[in-house]
Amino acid sequence: MEKKMDIKFFELKTKSDAPMDLLLLADPSEELVKSYLEKGTCYTAELDRETVGVILIMETKPHTIEVMNLAVKEEFQNNGIGKQLLLYVIEEIKKGDTKTIEIGTGNPGVVQMLLYQKCGFRIVGIDFDFFRRTHLEPIYENGIECRDMIRMRIDL
Ligand SMILES: CC(C)(COP(=O)(O)OP(=O)(O)OC[C@H]1O[C@@H](n2cnc3c(N)ncnc32)[C@H](O)[C@@H]1OP(=O)(O)O)[C@@H](O)C(=O)NCCC(=O)NCCS
Repeated sequence: MEKKMDIKFFELKTKSDAPMDLLLLADPSEELVKSYLEKGTCYTAELDRETVGVILIMETKPHTIEVMNLAVKEEFQNNGIGKQLLLYVIEEIKKGDTKTIEIGTGNPGVVQMLLYQKCGFRIVGIDFDFFRRTHLEPIYENGIECRDMIRMRIDL
């Protein structure tokens, strides 16, 4: 059951304030997370002044923004925070001249795929062996190797 919570969203002005522990929940590569953080924009979700969620977006090509990272603190998951944060950021992106919003998830990410579809994303392709190419160590989720990237998109 979704609890009624007073979640507030903020754009992070100082990149060194980014909640690395949370960002690493969604992507184990600190190096990749830092490179996205450098080029991208980070928003946080706060509950009673505690940072409970984070989302990191980055322009990957003209008029295209990709959601590079989305994470909610484990003890706050399944309360609708991830969905609210993603929907908030989609609205923020719509204020600009972006034509496409992209997001990707690993093949084991069935919950993520549900969430992204609920926010309007559609599956547009599969980047086979993406995670083997980009991460030195194999990643396991839900007991299977996270190997292929399911690419999803919203055309605005
Ligand atoms: C993925 C993640 C960000 C989702 O955040 P969250 O706050 O837990 O998600 P929400 O509570 O907003 O759930 C969103 C939707 O997913 C669906 N969902 C969540 N868990 C589900 C489950 N076990 N079975 C079916 N649907 C589920 C719900 O239907 C919900 O939609 P609804 O609100 O319309 O019912 C969070 O689980 C997380 O941080 N995971 C670890 C990091 C990660 O994997 N990030 C994504 C990188 S690709």
